[in-house]
Amino acid sequence: MPIVNRVADLQPDIQAWRRNIHEHPELLYEVHRTAAFVAERLRQFGCDEVATGLGRTGVVGVIRGRKPVGRGDIRVIGLRADMDALPIEEATSLPYASRTPGRMHACGHDGHTAMLLGAARYLSETRNFAGKAVVIFQPAEEGGAGAAAMIKDGLLDRFGIEQVYGMHNGPGIPIGSFAIRPGPIMASTDAVDIRIEGRGGHAARPHTAIDSVMVGAQLVTALQSIVSRSVDPLESAVVSMCEFHAGNARNVIPQTAELKGTVRTLTPEVRELVEQRLREVVDGVARMTGAKIDLSFERGYPVVVNHAAQTDIAIRAAREVAGESNVHDMPPLMGGEDFAYMLEQRPGAFIFCGNGDSAGLHHPAYDFNDEAIVHGTSYWIKLVENTLAV
Ligand code: NI
Repeated sequence: MPIVNRVADLQPDIQAWRRNIHEHPELLYEVHRTAAFVAERLRQFGCDEVATGLGRTGVVGVIRGRKPVGRGDIRVIGLRADMDALPIEEATSLPYASRTPGRMHACGHDGHTAMLLGAARYLSETRNFAGKAVVIFQPAEEGGAGAAAMIKDGLLDRFGIEQVYGMHNGPGIPIGSFAIRPGPIMASTDAVDIRIEGRGGHAARPHTAIDSVMVGAQLVTALQSIVSRSVDPLESAVVSMCEFHAGNARNVIPQTAELKGTVRTLTPEVRELVEQRLREVVDGVARMTGAKIDLSFERGYPVVVNHAAQTDIAIRAAREVAGESNVHDMPPLMGGEDFAYMLEQRPGAFIFCGNGDSAGLHHPAYDFNDEAIVHGTSYWIKLVENTLAV
């Protein structure tokens, strides 16, 4: 059995924690119940230190190995899970479905939290490593930059974290498999807000108006030329304009229109280029139409960039759990992840753990697959025992 044997014994407990957390989803920084649940268990396991309130509701547990640390060894690694849910109405009819209308664990952070708790319990029992394993439970991954908030509260320095690792479940990746790549693995996420001020008027007298709907339509089309004509075809970028609000009567040309969208890129250079072209296209359409157009381009999560040496460490741990042929290379995803902030500060790697043939992330029918528990938990354990080996 490639998984850690003791983890098979712990599986029912980890699954029960997972389902308990699933029933009680909490959003962004308001993960008070989940954080209390985590902290209570870390204390029960006998962690050497349990810290709460980092990044408002983040929780950290420190577990000291019983082996002596040699000179030049890595002394402290951080393992990170996220705890927050999403504002989605659950459509699973599971016995442990969300008890809160309009909220659900649709990204599997319930599973991430439970698996890291499972690893913390095992590591607290066995302590078969040198140095310290720091388990990090963060709030607000879904758009709130909880990772950055924990870093700002001193997470990395206070606990002396030298390397940091993250894991996400992956629908479509078979159970018992892992996927990872060195370099960029998830995209930066930037927010675009555009407000068009035209001149309202009668639908039958368009020559006296500046039609904000037409200006918006031109903008949506022109912005698509950034990816198709400005970005190197061998690089990656997404510009998706996903909201367009204007008008409320069929015979009135509306004065204003609002557009909202998102930009995804995989390198700082392309990110820079897309922002610059966005500004130029907006200015050009404004000049062409006579409308006044305000653009706000707000940078969100950075690119998640896996460090080469730590990706190798992650691959080794995953192979020990899943077998050589079940650890796959993967193309980058254009979704975002605030683990990017941790990888900007410390070397580390982010890996995907198979969730099998489940509904996609953020889908109302999604559920974390409990069969993944033994694999994900064993990965964390191997990572600690390999990296903090004597
Ligand atoms: Ni997620």
